[in-house]
Amino acid sequence: MSSIQNDNFSFDEKSQGLAKIALAKYPNDRKQSAVMPFLDIAQRQNGGWLSQPSIEYVAEQLEMPFIKVWEVVTFYTMYNTKPVGKNFVQVCTTTPCWLRGSENIVKACKEIISENQCDVAHNNLFSWMEVECLGACVNAPMIQINDDFYEDLDYESTKNILQSLIDNKPLKIGSQIGRLGSRGANNAQ
Ligand code: FES
Repeated sequence: MSSIQNDNFSFDEKSQGLAKIALAKYPNDRKQSAVMPFLDIAQRQNGGWLSQPSIEYVAEQLEMPFIKVWEVVTFYTMYNTKPVGKNFVQVCTTTPCWLRGSENIVKACKEIISENQCDVAHNNLFSWMEVECLGACVNAPMIQINDDFYEDLDYESTKNILQSLIDNKPLKIGSQIGRLGSRGANNAQ
């Protein structure tokens, strides 16, 4: 748990609307089932990570002990317990991405963002970290930035993507070599 904590937390209007939709999916006496969407809503409102007050708030809303919610938070890697950059870059380094050159993607992140993963750099613009398979192995190597995938990367295309974020230029999501869906790389257009 990060030592950087906001004092308190509660859902804003947008989050309240999302929470209502999530809760409606479960019976009234099973509202704890909404713990994962509630944590996701809290994390998005809180700038991409879950502070202790935000986790306490979720526990309170769902009438759960804090420790039960904390167990969920620490089990799933999709929840961050430390601040992340506005652009949170997750670099897959599992075997298929590794075989296709993920070390070059890590190198580009180290050069452009920060030598150390999880550092929030460039005035809060970025942080990066290595993660396990993100499920897009067919277009390896790949990264996820916030909710979007960038695939078929190499050192240069990764640097271009990161530099475009610094320069506030539009990005092309998905395959960077024009591959359609998961076609063989030789069929890229
Ligand atoms: S190994 Fe990288 S997306 Fe599956």
